[in-house]
Amino acid sequence: MDQEQFWKIRAEKYNKLNWVNEQSYIETFVSSTEFNKNESVLDVGTGTGVIAKRIALMVREVIGLDISQDMLEHSNWKDNKYFIKRDIREPFFHNNIFDKVTARMVFHHIIERTQNAMDECYRILKDGGKMILSEGVPPTPEVKEDYENIFKLKEERITFLEKDLIELMKNSGFKNVEIITHILKNFSVKNWLENSGLSQNNQDKIFEMHVTASEIFKRDYNMKIVNGDCLIDVKNLILVGEK
Ligand SMILES: C[S@@+](CC[C@H](N)C(=O)[O-])C[C@H]1O[C@@H](n2cnc3c(N)ncnc32)[C@H](O)[C@@H]1O
Repeated sequence: MDQEQFWKIRAEKYNKLNWVNEQSYIETFVSSTEFNKNESVLDVGTGTGVIAKRIALMVREVIGLDISQDMLEHSNWKDNKYFIKRDIREPFFHNNIFDKVTARMVFHHIIERTQNAMDECYRILKDGGKMILSEGVPPTPEVKEDYENIFKLKEERITFLEKDLIELMKNSGFKNVEIITHILKNFSVKNWLENSGLSQNNQDKIFEMHVTASEIFKRDYNMKIVNGDCLIDVKNLILVGEK
Protein backbone atom coordinates (compact mmCIF):
# COMPACT_ATOMS: atom_id res chain seq x y z
CA MET A 1 0.00 0.00 0.00
CA ASP A 2 1.41 3.44 -0.84
CA GLN A 3 1.95 6.08 1.84
CA GLU A 4 -0.93 8.24 0.70
CA GLN A 5 -3.46 5.41 0.91
CA PHE A 6 -2.01 4.20 4.22
CA TRP A 7 -2.50 7.62 5.87
CA LYS A 8 -5.88 8.17 4.21
CA ILE A 9 -7.20 5.08 6.01
CA ARG A 10 -5.50 5.94 9.29
CA ALA A 11 -6.66 9.56 9.24
CA GLU A 12 -10.33 8.58 9.67
CA LYS A 13 -9.97 7.44 13.28
CA TYR A 14 -6.63 8.93 14.23
CA ASN A 15 -8.04 11.42 16.74
CA LYS A 16 -9.83 8.61 18.59
CA LEU A 17 -6.53 6.98 19.54
CA ASN A 18 -6.11 7.37 23.31
CA TRP A 19 -2.34 7.76 23.12
CA VAL A 20 -2.57 10.68 20.67
CA ASN A 21 -4.51 12.84 23.14
CA GLU A 22 -3.02 11.48 26.36
CA GLN A 23 -2.33 14.63 28.37
CA SER A 24 0.57 13.27 30.41
CA TYR A 25 2.41 12.38 27.20
CA ILE A 26 1.67 15.73 25.52
CA GLU A 27 2.70 17.66 28.64
CA THR A 28 5.91 15.67 29.12
CA PHE A 29 6.75 16.28 25.47
CA VAL A 30 6.21 20.05 25.58
CA SER A 31 7.93 20.51 28.94
CA SER A 32 11.06 18.67 27.81
CA THR A 33 12.47 22.05 26.76
CA GLU A 34 11.54 25.71 27.24
CA PHE A 35 9.37 27.35 24.60
CA ASN A 36 8.89 31.11 24.59
CA LYS A 37 6.71 33.72 22.93
CA ASN A 38 9.30 34.88 20.38
CA GLU A 39 9.88 31.49 18.88
CA SER A 40 9.10 29.95 15.55
CA VAL A 41 8.58 26.20 15.56
CA LEU A 42 8.23 23.55 12.87
CA ASP A 43 6.24 20.45 13.84
CA VAL A 44 7.38 17.73 11.45
CA GLY A 45 4.86 14.97 10.67
CA THR A 46 2.25 17.03 12.47
CA GLY A 47 -0.56 14.69 11.44
CA THR A 48 -3.79 16.15 12.84
CA GLY A 49 -1.79 18.84 14.62
CA VAL A 50 -2.25 17.74 18.25
CA ILE A 51 1.30 18.70 19.29
CA ALA A 52 1.38 21.82 17.09
CA LYS A 53 -1.86 23.11 18.64
CA ARG A 54 -0.47 22.67 22.16
CA ILE A 55 2.85 24.36 21.33
CA ALA A 56 1.04 27.27 19.66
CA LEU A 57 -0.08 28.42 23.14
CA MET A 58 3.54 29.06 24.09
CA VAL A 59 5.25 30.48 20.98
CA ARG A 60 4.93 33.10 18.23
CA GLU A 61 4.16 30.67 15.41
CA VAL A 62 4.00 26.97 14.66
CA ILE A 63 4.08 25.50 11.19
CA GLY A 64 2.78 21.95 10.88
CA LEU A 65 4.31 19.96 8.04
CA ASP A 66 3.02 16.57 6.92
CA ILE A 67 3.29 14.30 3.91
CA SER A 68 -0.41 13.38 4.11
CA GLN A 69 -3.16 15.78 3.07
CA ASP A 70 -5.72 13.47 4.69
CA MET A 71 -4.05 13.69 8.10
CA LEU A 72 -3.91 17.49 7.86
CA GLU A 73 -7.57 17.65 6.85
CA HIS A 74 -8.61 15.66 9.92
CA SER A 75 -7.14 18.28 12.23
CA ASN A 76 -9.22 19.61 15.12
CA TRP A 77 -7.08 22.75 15.13
CA LYS A 78 -9.25 24.92 12.94
CA ASP A 79 -7.78 28.35 13.69
CA ASN A 80 -4.24 27.39 12.76
CA LYS A 81 -2.39 29.49 10.22
CA TYR A 82 0.11 27.16 8.68
CA PHE A 83 -0.17 23.58 7.57
CA ILE A 84 2.11 22.49 4.76
CA LYS A 85 1.86 19.28 2.78
CA ARG A 86 5.49 18.27 2.26
CA ASP A 87 7.89 15.42 2.75
CA ILE A 88 10.49 16.49 5.32
CA ARG A 89 13.20 14.85 3.21
CA GLU A 90 12.63 17.38 0.42
CA PRO A 91 14.36 20.65 1.29
CA PHE A 92 11.88 23.50 1.39
CA PHE A 93 12.87 26.06 4.03
CA HIS A 94 15.95 28.29 4.18
CA ASN A 95 18.85 27.40 6.49
CA ASN A 96 18.76 28.42 10.18
CA ILE A 97 15.22 29.75 10.51
CA PHE A 98 13.45 27.79 13.28
CA ASP A 99 14.04 28.00 17.03
CA LYS A 100 12.65 24.52 17.59
CA VAL A 101 11.75 21.53 15.46
CA THR A 102 9.44 18.90 16.95
CA ALA A 103 8.58 15.42 15.69
CA ARG A 104 6.43 13.07 17.74
CA MET A 105 6.02 9.50 16.46
CA VAL A 106 7.12 10.33 12.93
CA PHE A 107 10.62 8.99 12.32
CA HIS A 108 9.74 5.28 12.59
CA HIS A 109 7.58 5.85 9.50
CA ILE A 110 10.47 7.33 7.52
CA ILE A 111 11.94 4.03 6.45
CA GLU A 112 14.06 5.30 3.59
CA ARG A 113 16.55 8.15 3.83
CA THR A 114 15.85 8.45 7.57
CA GLN A 115 19.12 10.28 8.18
CA ASN A 116 18.27 12.78 5.42
CA ALA A 117 15.10 13.65 7.31
CA MET A 118 17.10 14.33 10.49
CA ASP A 119 19.75 16.27 8.52
CA GLU A 120 16.98 18.47 7.20
CA CYS A 121 15.68 19.17 10.72
CA TYR A 122 19.22 20.18 11.68
CA ARG A 123 19.73 22.40 8.63
CA ILE A 124 16.60 24.50 9.16
CA LEU A 125 17.25 25.07 12.89
CA LYS A 126 19.03 28.21 14.07
CA ASP A 127 22.35 27.74 15.86
CA GLY A 128 21.46 26.91 19.45
CA GLY A 129 18.00 25.76 18.33
CA LYS A 130 16.56 22.51 19.64
CA MET A 131 15.15 19.36 18.10
CA ILE A 132 12.56 17.49 20.17
CA LEU A 133 12.00 13.96 18.97
CA SER A 134 9.75 11.30 20.45
CA GLU A 135 9.50 7.64 19.55
CA GLY A 136 8.11 4.49 21.13
CA VAL A 137 10.64 1.78 21.97
CA PRO A 138 10.38 -1.80 23.23
CA PRO A 139 10.35 -1.66 27.06
CA THR A 140 13.47 -3.87 27.13
CA PRO A 141 15.81 -5.14 24.38
CA GLU A 142 14.65 -8.73 25.27
CA VAL A 143 11.21 -8.11 23.78
CA LYS A 144 12.44 -6.34 20.64
CA GLU A 145 11.71 -9.40 18.47
CA ASP A 146 8.14 -9.77 19.78
CA TYR A 147 7.65 -6.05 19.27
CA GLU A 148 8.81 -6.34 15.67
CA ASN A 149 6.60 -9.35 15.00
CA ILE A 150 3.55 -7.51 16.30
CA PHE A 151 4.27 -4.40 14.26
CA LYS A 152 4.89 -6.44 11.09
CA LEU A 153 1.13 -7.03 11.04
CA LYS A 154 0.45 -3.32 11.46
CA GLU A 155 2.83 -1.42 9.20
CA GLU A 156 6.28 -1.23 7.73
CA ARG A 157 8.35 0.66 10.28
CA ILE A 158 11.72 1.05 11.94
CA THR A 159 12.10 -0.36 15.43
CA PHE A 160 14.34 2.02 17.30
CA LEU A 161 16.18 1.36 20.52
CA GLU A 162 17.44 4.27 22.63
CA LYS A 163 20.95 4.01 21.17
CA ASP A 164 19.61 4.19 17.59
CA LEU A 165 17.77 7.42 18.33
CA ILE A 166 20.81 9.01 19.94
CA GLU A 167 22.90 7.96 16.94
CA LEU A 168 20.32 9.33 14.50
CA MET A 169 20.48 12.73 16.19
CA LYS A 170 24.25 12.81 16.70
CA ASN A 171 24.95 11.77 13.10
CA SER A 172 23.15 14.89 11.92
CA GLY A 173 25.26 17.05 14.25
CA PHE A 174 23.05 17.44 17.33
CA LYS A 175 24.92 17.85 20.60
CA ASN A 176 24.01 17.69 24.30
CA VAL A 177 21.33 15.10 23.55
CA GLU A 178 19.15 14.54 26.61
CA ILE A 179 16.62 11.76 27.06
CA ILE A 180 13.39 11.72 29.00
CA THR A 181 11.37 8.54 29.40
CA HIS A 182 7.61 8.67 29.41
CA ILE A 183 5.60 5.58 30.35
CA LEU A 184 2.10 5.56 28.98
CA LYS A 185 0.39 3.51 31.67
CA ASN A 186 -2.51 1.18 30.99
CA PHE A 187 -2.39 1.67 27.23
CA SER A 188 -5.48 0.00 25.80
CA VAL A 189 -4.48 -2.44 23.05
CA LYS A 190 -8.17 -2.61 22.07
CA ASN A 191 -8.48 1.16 21.55
CA TRP A 192 -5.23 1.19 19.61
CA LEU A 193 -6.27 -1.62 17.28
CA GLU A 194 -9.84 -0.38 16.71
CA ASN A 195 -8.60 3.05 15.63
CA SER A 196 -5.53 2.10 13.60
CA GLY A 197 -7.27 1.39 10.30
CA LEU A 198 -6.29 -2.30 10.36
CA SER A 199 -8.37 -5.15 8.95
CA GLN A 200 -10.39 -7.04 11.58
CA ASN A 201 -8.27 -10.09 10.85
CA ASN A 202 -5.02 -8.30 11.70
CA GLN A 203 -6.58 -6.65 14.75
CA ASP A 204 -7.58 -10.08 16.04
CA LYS A 205 -4.14 -11.54 15.32
CA ILE A 206 -2.31 -8.72 17.11
CA PHE A 207 -4.62 -8.93 20.11
CA GLU A 208 -4.05 -12.68 20.29
CA MET A 209 -0.27 -12.16 20.09
CA HIS A 210 -0.48 -10.03 23.23
CA VAL A 211 -2.66 -12.42 25.18
CA THR A 212 -0.51 -15.44 24.30
CA ALA A 213 2.85 -13.66 24.63
CA SER A 214 5.73 -14.98 26.73
CA GLU A 215 5.90 -14.33 30.46
CA ILE A 216 8.87 -12.01 29.81
CA PHE A 217 6.77 -9.91 27.42
CA LYS A 218 3.88 -9.79 29.89
CA ARG A 219 6.23 -8.80 32.70
CA ASP A 220 8.13 -6.15 30.74
CA TYR A 221 4.90 -4.59 29.49
CA ASN A 222 3.22 -4.93 32.91
CA MET A 223 0.34 -6.50 31.01
CA LYS A 224 -3.13 -6.86 32.52
CA ILE A 225 -6.34 -8.26 31.08
CA VAL A 226 -9.23 -6.07 32.26
CA ASN A 227 -12.84 -6.41 31.03
CA GLY A 228 -11.76 -8.12 27.82
CA ASP A 229 -9.11 -5.49 27.07
CA CYS A 230 -5.37 -5.89 27.27
CA LEU A 231 -3.63 -3.05 29.13
CA ILE A 232 0.11 -2.51 28.80
CA ASP A 233 2.66 0.10 29.87
CA VAL A 234 4.21 1.63 26.76
CA LYS A 235 7.66 3.21 26.80
CA ASN A 236 8.16 6.42 24.84
CA LEU A 237 11.41 8.32 24.70
CA ILE A 238 11.70 12.06 24.23
CA LEU A 239 15.09 13.25 23.01
CA VAL A 240 16.18 16.85 23.00
CA GLY A 241 19.25 17.81 21.01
CA GLU A 242 20.90 21.16 20.36
CA LYS A 243 22.29 22.55 17.13
C1 LIG B 1 1.81 8.65 13.95
S1 LIG B 1 1.54 10.15 13.07
C2 LIG B 1 2.07 11.37 14.29
C3 LIG B 1 1.31 12.66 14.15
C4 LIG B 1 1.63 13.72 15.22
N1 LIG B 1 3.05 14.05 15.23
C5 LIG B 1 1.16 13.29 16.58
O1 LIG B 1 2.00 13.16 17.48
O2 LIG B 1 -0.05 13.07 16.74
C6 LIG B 1 2.91 10.21 11.91
C7 LIG B 1 2.76 11.33 10.87
O3 LIG B 1 3.99 11.44 10.16
C8 LIG B 1 3.70 11.79 8.83
N2 LIG B 1 4.86 11.48 7.98
C9 LIG B 1 5.36 10.25 7.68
N3 LIG B 1 6.44 10.37 6.88
C10 LIG B 1 6.63 11.71 6.67
C11 LIG B 1 7.57 12.46 5.92
N4 LIG B 1 8.54 11.86 5.23
N5 LIG B 1 7.48 13.82 5.93
C12 LIG B 1 6.49 14.44 6.63
N6 LIG B 1 5.56 13.77 7.34
C13 LIG B 1 5.62 12.43 7.37
C14 LIG B 1 2.45 10.96 8.51
O4 LIG B 1 1.75 11.43 7.40
C15 LIG B 1 1.68 11.07 9.82
O5 LIG B 1 0.75 12.12 9.81
